[in-house]
Amino acid sequence: DLGGFPHYMAKEIQEQPESVERMIRGRLDDRFGVARLDGLNLTPRELRGFSRVKILGCGSAYYVGQIGATMIEELARIPADAEAASEFRYRNPIIEADTLYIAVSQSGETIDTAFAVEEIKRKGGRVAGLVNVVGSTIARACDGGVYLHAGPEIAVASTKALTNMAVGFAMIALALGRVRDLSNADGQRIIAAIRALPGQIKAVLDTEPLIAEHAKAAAAANSLFFIGRVRGYPVAREGAQKFKEISYRHAEAYQTSELKHGPLALIDESLPTVAVVPADELADRNLAAVQQIRARGGAVLAITHEDVDFGELDVPRIVVPRTEPELDPILLTIPLQLLAYHAALTLGYDIDKPRNLAKSVTVE
Ligand code: BG6
Repeated sequence: DLGGFPHYMAKEIQEQPESVERMIRGRLDDRFGVARLDGLNLTPRELRGFSRVKILGCGSAYYVGQIGATMIEELARIPADAEAASEFRYRNPIIEADTLYIAVSQSGETIDTAFAVEEIKRKGGRVAGLVNVVGSTIARACDGGVYLHAGPEIAVASTKALTNMAVGFAMIALALGRVRDLSNADGQRIIAAIRALPGQIKAVLDTEPLIAEHAKAAAAANSLFFIGRVRGYPVAREGAQKFKEISYRHAEAYQTSELKHGPLALIDESLPTVAVVPADELADRNLAAVQQIRARGGAVLAITHEDVDFGELDVPRIVVPRTEPELDPILLTIPLQLLAYHAALTLGYDIDKPRNLAKSVTVE
């Protein structure tokens, strides 16, 4: 049921404020600044025992995994990284007893992710699932997990499930952080920020008409760069993925820091860049990169915060509300969903069922 929306993707984008509410309901403990994730089936002592986190997923789930890894490193100060489950399963991975493996999947049926889980379990590793579909193959195979409660997601291009995955990682990072050195005050700071997310997502969705205007220009380009660094890099990767999936335009994500080490050679009037520029400790460096692109005639659209000072730079901006810096990726991703959606709409493509793609790849 489209509920009056022209596409499932539009509906699912708009559902995000309520869907995040469902994700966090009953799971945040304000008094102790911690997340209660009983489904993980891990005691505080077990949580404390992990010295590393490895996140596995495919496609967008992998990119959100990268957002999650950064949150876990920042809040819990344990080494964490994300890897494409499709690669992991084929490379005879080393499985360690003190690593917490996290499998991320909307459908819970993606075969590459399911095989990665099997491989970890065969070798005695502990796997938690961050899955939307209750009772799915991956959810059942994991030792425990956190359901996303995003509700059914129909559009091939994932939106609300991804946002809930990112919120799930924030809560897992809290759980891992609060059995280590994350203070009660810092835990409370993050919890207050998580609680504010649904209202802030609404504010981002309100900028849709402006994003739709920029999407027309983006759709006119044959090729685009999406750039970001550290927290912003997986945001750029996910933005480029979404854009190519439904608008069939070449979109390439790059670390802003790596621009000068190669891809800057491609910049001219014909190659626009979508730049993720949060108001964090790297804002000045990101602005310097934007300046370098503008100096070579490249158009830039910034996904940014109100208080980033672009000075003389001729750069249109899509402004998202500020949250705690660790959670910035959650809100920065939302305009990129709308950008891809409106580009595909302008181009007249089948938004909910893009060519060559399936909602979940369940066969080899
Ligand atoms: C891909 C889909 O094949 O699978 C992506 O096209 C999706 O949109 C990815 O992100 C992973 O799917 P899931 O269900 O495991 O999250």
